[in-house]
Amino acid sequence: MKNLINETAEIILNSKLTLALTGAGVSVESGIPDFRSAGGLWAKYNPAEYATISAFTERPEKVWEMLRDMDKVVSGARPNKAHIGMGELEKMGLLHHIITQNVDNLHQDGGSKNVIEYHGNASTLSCLWCKKGYKSEDKRKEHPPKCQCGKILKPDVIFFGEAISAQAMERSFQLAGSAEALMVVGTSAVVSPANTIPSIAKQNGAKIIEINKERTSLTGSVTDIFLKGSAGEIISELVDRIKDMRNAGYGTSL
Ligand code: APR
Repeated sequence: MKNLINETAEIILNSKLTLALTGAGVSVESGIPDFRSAGGLWAKYNPAEYATISAFTERPEKVWEMLRDMDKVVSGARPNKAHIGMGELEKMGLLHHIITQNVDNLHQDGGSKNVIEYHGNASTLSCLWCKKGYKSEDKRKEHPPKCQCGKILKPDVIFFGEAISAQAMERSFQLAGSAEALMVVGTSAVVSPANTIPSIAKQNGAKIIEINKERTSLTGSVTDIFLKGSAGEIISELVDRIKDMRNAGYGTSL
């Protein structure tokens, strides 16, 4: 693993445009279960009944049972070493954009500023009828939360069957087309269009570094370096290695 970390550090130190694509696995060490690992959210709630936009419009009270469960863990979650390490890499000018599928705001809480949110953000709610917006924290005591017009509010996250923001897609595809390195962290890469980012980057010559507890459909095909293990451990080890190499003058020679 040490050699792979060294190789990854060199790639990142030499890359002029480095991106990260993250999924729920990056927040598991903050106490937020992912979706498809054993014991994940979809083991408890059938996504067809709880995570589609038609399920929400037809039975919002039922969907809010799952949303309240998620909100309990997300609202108390703090950024872990993976979020903080990626925030440090951004500050060092070595990670330029994060494209995340997560809605927990933990990348921003961990110091990252350039975050493209594919599936929205759960910290705000909207009324589908009168379009009024609210902060989730202001409605936490209401079950389910309602708009002043009386309708049940929807979190500003993308449900299955809803379109990803065209701006988020356009920007992320444009970046993936010119990236020199892409870190794919904590995602099963089964949901499109986010899961097309690695192959777009690969086709344009980027090095693909995958950080995951287990192999995915990318590992044997698109991935160049597979760092197997927990995102928090691996990213903090990678950031330490990059700092050591920088302090030793790596990459500063003209
Ligand atoms: N460190 C690294 N990887 C981890 C860790 C960890 N501590 N814990 C879990 N993982 C990995 C799992 O092995 C899995 O490959 O993270 C991945 C999580 O995959 P999913 O649960 O499928 O989550 P994600 O890929 O983000 O799902 C994409 O699907 O349900 C929708 O909208 C939802 O945004 C979500 C999308």
